[in-house]
Amino acid sequence: MEVVSTIEELKGLLDDYRAKGKKIGFVPTMGALHDGHASLVERSVKENDVTVVSVFVNPTQFNDKNDLKNYPRTLEADCALLERVGATVVFAPTVEEMYPAEDTRRFSFAPLDTVMEGACRPGHFNGVAQIVSKLFYAVEPHKAYFGEKDFQQLAIIREMVRQLAFDIEIVGCPIVREEDGLAMSSRNTLLSEDERERALTISSTLFASADFAQVNSLAATKAFVEDMINDTEGLELEYYQIVDGNTLQEIEEWSDSDYVVGCIALFCGNIRLIDNIKYKEVK
Ligand code: PAJ
Repeated sequence: MEVVSTIEELKGLLDDYRAKGKKIGFVPTMGALHDGHASLVERSVKENDVTVVSVFVNPTQFNDKNDLKNYPRTLEADCALLERVGATVVFAPTVEEMYPAEDTRRFSFAPLDTVMEGACRPGHFNGVAQIVSKLFYAVEPHKAYFGEKDFQQLAIIREMVRQLAFDIEIVGCPIVREEDGLAMSSRNTLLSEDERERALTISSTLFASADFAQVNSLAATKAFVEDMINDTEGLELEYYQIVDGNTLQEIEEWSDSDYVVGCIALFCGNIRLIDNIKYKEVK
């Protein structure tokens, strides 16, 4: 496994692989890697000849300076994990390398980016699109892997690929959870023991709501989740929305869509967590 920090080195390596006709898979990350990230890398290793993983805490997608400052940075441990799961190249650039000048590009993915995370974190998806597009230009992968943990991000990346006409197949990968159900997240390491316990209510509520949804209306199911979270001390709900999985717009009845996802964002103490659950999916 090679670890490089400049676009020039990265392109040099990848041009060689491309010249030999190798298929390149790409997994963008912000590091502090866990088994959720590992699942994306393993999938890419299985489906491609070469797997590139980027590790870069992208400042332009953080609308909260403290969140950026506190974001865990563990490059050495990340490289050990990536070596273990079979990554070929790690790209770990500096901020100056990715942003030699301010990125003044402004994207719009309306209506996908005006709801949920887009509404709560102004500028967040613009920053994600800035960095992911730059990484796509640098890596030029055949396939790129994103987790359904960040359900809205995945939809927006697909839309970005359409808008910018990237010739890249976007592969969505299922949420990996801790044994007790909590969705894996780099931010989980920032939770205190108490907070970690409270955070469990998120997944247990979502799972329970899937059963509840079998015999109850969409509005009642939404209220079921909201009430459960609001009744848990130490959790502060930001939103719970039951949306069409393609348009990300809220729906009113189960029959309004055949792809229905519930997306939640909340604060557990000072740590912001997200999760989601599929109520209905027709493949
Ligand atoms: P990061 O939060 O590090 O996540 C990198 C990728 O791992 C994302 O596609 C995310 O959805 C996926 N992932 C995280 N936790 C997961 C889990 N529990 N199960 C499955 N997949 C999971 O998302 C970002 O970084 C950034 O926004 C990035 C796309 C790298 C742009 O900076």
